[in-house]
Amino acid sequence: MNVLTFRTEEDLNRAGAGLIASLLQAQPKAVLGLATGSTPIGIYGELVKLHDSGSVSFAKARSYNLDEYVGLSGGHPASYRCFMNTHLFDKIDIDPANTHVPNGLAVDLEQECAYYDAMIEDEGIDLQLLGLGHNGHIGFNEPDDELIPGTHAATLQQQTIEANARFFDSIDEVPKQAITMGVAGIMKARQILLVVRGASKADIAKRALTGPITTQCPASLLQLHPNLVVLLDEAAGAWAK
Ligand code: F6R
Repeated sequence: MNVLTFRTEEDLNRAGAGLIASLLQAQPKAVLGLATGSTPIGIYGELVKLHDSGSVSFAKARSYNLDEYVGLSGGHPASYRCFMNTHLFDKIDIDPANTHVPNGLAVDLEQECAYYDAMIEDEGIDLQLLGLGHNGHIGFNEPDDELIPGTHAATLQQQTIEANARFFDSIDEVPKQAITMGVAGIMKARQILLVVRGASKADIAKRALTGPITTQCPASLLQLHPNLVVLLDEAAGAWAK
């Protein structure tokens, strides 16, 4: 595990974008595993800048997002498809057909999950970008006695619903379920880039990265990954010094 702590948001965002850009420069057809939420927004902003300056192209890249709310169409402003289009895909030269986000409107959720897993298995994710939930979740793999390895429809915990309510007009509008890649799918990525910001996540970041490996903190499984890079801001990484 390689843990890097940054003094400023800008440094962290540049480092995250730099890692992704270096991969694409070396391997233009790289398969990126992407995340939504507030954590990666600055990194996506830096990637757009690198794209605009001609330093990186996504023309041959492919992407798979971690998750999508069940019941939201890609056109819904709070959907993860809409988030990705707004923050990244619409601003770079990636072929929209090469971007994948689970279909939250799938009639048969089980079939959609199996289809998504088959695509991921076939392509192989080169780099998976991850944020960290306050309860230790990655994707929507919430703390539990057991974790599901493959892509599945997960029931969101109340803490996650409350944390995500800021993206909706009211908490009642937050979907109760999401399609998420499972922990095995995440762990199969060749490299994982975990990004954690803010004092409110310092304790869970420490627990995930230095505590026991347990399904009660899904991110703790990342300790087992052979190529894990962690980017922390000073507030989230005070313990790492
Ligand atoms: C997003 C995702 C979630 C978030 C996590 C942190 O695609 O899968 O696991 O990474 O909830 O969210 P933020 O970054 O909003 O604190």
